[in-house]
Parts: sequence; C-alpha cells; structure tokens
Amino acid sequence: MKRIPIALTGSGHVSRAFITLLREKESDIEARYELRFDVMAVVRAEGCLFSGQPLGVNQVFKSGGPWIDGNPSWRQGMRISDIFKPAGRGGCLVECTPSDLKSGEPGLSYIIGALESGWNVATASKGALVIAFRKLRSLAASQGLALKFSGATAAALPTLDVGLVSLAGAGIEGIQGILNGTSNYILTKMADGLSYEDALEEARSWGIAEPDPSTDVEGWDSAAKLLLIANACLDTDLALEDVKVSGIADLPVSYVGEARKEGKSVKLLASAAPKKTGRGWRLEVRPTLLDMTHPLFHVNGTEKGITFFTDTMGSVTLTGGRSNPRGAAAALLKDLINIYRGRL
Ligand SMILES: NC(=O)c1ccc[n+]([C@@H]2O[C@H](COP(=O)([O-])OP(=O)(O)OC[C@H]3O[C@@H](n4cnc5c(N)ncnc54)[C@H](OP(=O)(O)O)[C@@H]3O)[C@@H](O)[C@H]2O)c1
Repeated sequence: MKRIPIALTGSGHVSRAFITLLREKESDIEARYELRFDVMAVVRAEGCLFSGQPLGVNQVFKSGGPWIDGNPSWRQGMRISDIFKPAGRGGCLVECTPSDLKSGEPGLSYIIGALESGWNVATASKGALVIAFRKLRSLAASQGLALKFSGATAAALPTLDVGLVSLAGAGIEGIQGILNGTSNYILTKMADGLSYEDALEEARSWGIAEPDPSTDVEGWDSAAKLLLIANACLDTDLALEDVKVSGIADLPVSYVGEARKEGKSVKLLASAAPKKTGRGWRLEVRPTLLDMTHPLFHVNGTEKGITFFTDTMGSVTLTGGRSNPRGAAAALLKDLINIYRGRL
C-alpha cells in the first residue's frame, strides 16, 4: 500500500466534496489501486489545518464552513512551505482556491511552490494555468512531476483524457464544446420560454449559478477552459486575450424561442478552428445556432459536451459529466489515481 500525503489549498465547496469523496472511496481505492491519499493539511490564506495525522471532513468543516476557532488542528501563520519541505518529494498539492483569470493567484504561487518542492499537482482552479501554462508545464517536466488539470477543464467531462490520450496519433482539426453548465442551463430554460432574468434566478435558486454569475454568463469561464484545452491538446501558446468572447446576457429570449420553433438550439459554443488565412488557431466563445445534426444539439441543462474533429478518427463527442463540486472532486481524484499508478 502506497500512502500519499495531500496538501489541499482552499476550504470551500470543492475541497469539502473532495475530502468527503476520499473518505467514501477509501477502501475501494486501496483495494483497486493499492493507494491511500492522506489529507495532511488544508491551507488557508492565514494559516493551515494540520495535526500531523490525516484530516477527515469533521476536522476541517463545522456548521457548513471551515472550522478555525477552537479547532485543535488550526495553526495560525503556518504556510504551505512548512508542509512541503519536511514531507520531502512525492506528495500532491490539490489546488481548490478561486480561479482569478487576471493574476492567477493564489493558485499560481501554490502550484509553483509545490513543483519546486518536488510535489505533484492536481488543480481544479483555472487561473494559474490561464496565466502561465507553458511555464508551469516546463517546471513540472523539468522536475519529472505531474501537473494535472482535469478539474479545471470541465471537470467530470473528460476533455483532456480524450484529447491527449485517446486521440494520440490523430490530428485534431477542430474542437467545439459546451463547457459551462450554468449558461447552458439558462439557455435551456430560455428555450422553454423563460426570460433571461427568470432563468438566471431559477439557476441561482438551485445553487447552479453563483451569486455573481458574470464569469459564466459573459463567457469567460468557457473561454478559460477552451484556452486550457487548446494549449494542452493543440500545443498552442495562446492567452485569454486571444479568445474572442461574447456571452449570453444580452441574448433576446425571442431569438432562443424562435430557434426552437425552427428545430434548432442556441448554445454558448466554445470553438477552436484553424485560421482561414495563415497558420495558427482561432479561439472563440459565442452563442451559436446548432441544428439537429450537430453532435452537441442535445446537450441540455447543466450538461456539458465536447467534440473533437480529427483527420483519422472522424469526430469524437463526449457529453454529460456532473457540473458540481462533487463532479470536480471526482475529476481531482481521477487525476490523483492516474498520477500515482504511473499514467502521467
Ligand atoms: N464549484 C464547482 O462546481 C467547481 C467545478 C470545477 C472547478 N471549480 C474550481 O475550483 C475552485 C474552487 O471552487 P469552489 O466552488 O470550492 O470555490 P469556493 O467555495 O469559493 O472555495 C474557495 C476557497 O478558497 C479559499 N481561499 C481564498 N483565497 C485563499 C488563499 N490565498 N489561500 C488559501 N485558500 C484561499 C476560500 O477561503 P475563504 O472562504 O476564507 O475566502 C475558500 O475556502 C475554483 O477555482 C473553481 O473555479 C469549481
């Protein structure tokens, strides 16, 4: 049995789902993979939860939030470097802080710190990779470490596994995806006749939309995921500014309703296509009319989907995958298992 220390950054929805899932799957993972993941530290901006023993969900969370006051495991002022160095090489950082698409922080510093200390990385946050994908990938490679980011690229929908592993040897000629569950839910409800505002309100009431949904509905979450998928699978070196983005907030409900009457559907489509002139790729996120023959036509509600167009394998489409913290936690767990059973 191989025991792997985990440092978890962030103590929000995904972190909580991740610790819960680890507990649930513990014996299965031990039996199937001879691996055991021990959450040794939960890192917050102002200190860490750390006791020298693996932490369970009840030692990290209380009454719905992170448990700090009165927690015997709380170490005010302890930093993540205090965990990496004594533990030596071989652990894994599980990065679950907010995705800041402008600075990449705090994930960027945490990921660099982990890789420089000989720790692998599995991240659900997008910011660091949006800002510094090549630099982080080179750093990981130079250290012989894994940098996995399924959780940041549509999570439970296995976009990178397919693009990087299943399509090995094929030329990818284009990618189209519905990569944001919140905006897809709103568009589905608008097609049913709800106004944008009512659809958003309903998404909020189900916990699907964030209190501030702007990153989702303005298309930036889809753009970040598209960028990461393109940079990884097409080997591009593009930045977020290279993605042309328009969202769904200004879309008239009549446009979405008319599309349905004509047997079509409006989707916030993220696409990578070869430039018409010259070399390189054009990345775009915009509301797009799909007809019934399109492989993503039936992706409704919070579902996501992706189609890879290839030279030798035809078009390959995946749809589904849970769009919630548990789905993100499951994607992190998948990455961890694959790192430690040698499937980099
Ligand atoms: N929610 C999903 O379904 C989902 C799916 C896929 C990917 N993701 C990505 O996963 C990440 C986490 O999402 P979430 O829903 O768990 O977000 P969340 O509930 O807002 O949790 C973020 C956590 O990060 C903490 N944090 C902020 N700054 C920090 C710092 N400097 N050091 C350590 N911790 C810090 C926050 O602490 P405070 O509360 O004290 O500020 C909070 O506990 C995001 O990047 C998101 O884009 C989320």
